[in-house]
Amino acid sequence: MTKDLLGIKELDKDDIIRILDTASGFKGVLERDIKKVPTLRGKTMVNLFFEPSTRTRMSFELAGKRLSMDVTNVSISASSVTKGETLLDTIRTMEAYGADIVVIRHSSSGIPHLLADNVTASLINAGDGFNEHPTQALLDIFTIRQHKGRLEGLDVAIVGDIAHSRVARSNIYAMGKLGINVRLIGPPTLIPAGMDSLPKVKVFHRMEEGISGADVVMQLRVQRERQKGGFFPNIHEYAKLYILNGRRLSMAKDDAIVMHPGPINRGVEISSAVADGERSVILDQVNNGVAVRMAVVYLLSGEKTSRMMEERRQRTEDRRQKTDHKLMPAQERRQGTKDRRQKNEY
Ligand code: CP
Repeated sequence: MTKDLLGIKELDKDDIIRILDTASGFKGVLERDIKKVPTLRGKTMVNLFFEPSTRTRMSFELAGKRLSMDVTNVSISASSVTKGETLLDTIRTMEAYGADIVVIRHSSSGIPHLLADNVTASLINAGDGFNEHPTQALLDIFTIRQHKGRLEGLDVAIVGDIAHSRVARSNIYAMGKLGINVRLIGPPTLIPAGMDSLPKVKVFHRMEEGISGADVVMQLRVQRERQKGGFFPNIHEYAKLYILNGRRLSMAKDDAIVMHPGPINRGVEISSAVADGERSVILDQVNNGVAVRMAVVYLLSGEKTSRMMEERRQRTEDRRQKTDHKLMPAQERRQGTKDRRQKNEY
């Protein structure tokens, strides 16, 4: 891993497994009476959300607090962003207050990537436009592993608005790296062209065909706030073709689990009976979000600390070499300078 978590695209399989395994350890902490460890005492995390959020913001806040961090949520509508302050200046201001981790959600794709190279704090992408929502994919995979006991070779159906879903994109990247077979299901207008050329991805437009024999059915929210055109005739038509109800779920494997990143539109993507049914793991996803985000924050802090220690070691080494040079007998120093000058003449 690097200083930041910007997307699943930048991670490799070992990074993902390390995050999942670390999250398993933190899950144990969250099951104790006292759900707190002193690991990151003295560190500061700032949540900077330019779009609404319930789950992601709250679970990052809890994750930080469970690790004993100081956590601040910035309310954008009440911040100096509304007076024209640039995003970079806002983050630099937070760094001046000692922010070690900045969690950012923004409606424009690529904003976290743009900022990451210009700040020293670790940035975590909490969702950028249509692009990625890496911690959601990590908690989804964590939940699948928890219920299925394995990942490789599973058949996961992702249903709905693939085109506008950063959750789908991050999951497709993660599942590809982990050997999971992905079936993308939705109307042709909501599945970007070329998706079926990705490794381990198949595209279906008929839901019954796509979910048949699946181990996991993941319904996505219809992202009406991101849709700028008529991608389907109306919401009732969409629901008729793509809602997950009991009849359709019976076509998946008998032990298939039902997932949804939330927030849910009941009666549109999923029936209440299925959302609240015994095969639904939607609240497990919410619950696992805290442990997974603790793991991400913990690992990034470790990366940052090791990098800072390496830089400090390098500075000490540079200083030692300069001091050694000064302590050399004058004659040796003169000879060294003479040698260097002669070398340069050639
Ligand atoms: N899944 C998800 O990102 O939910 P929130 O928008 O509530 O954070």
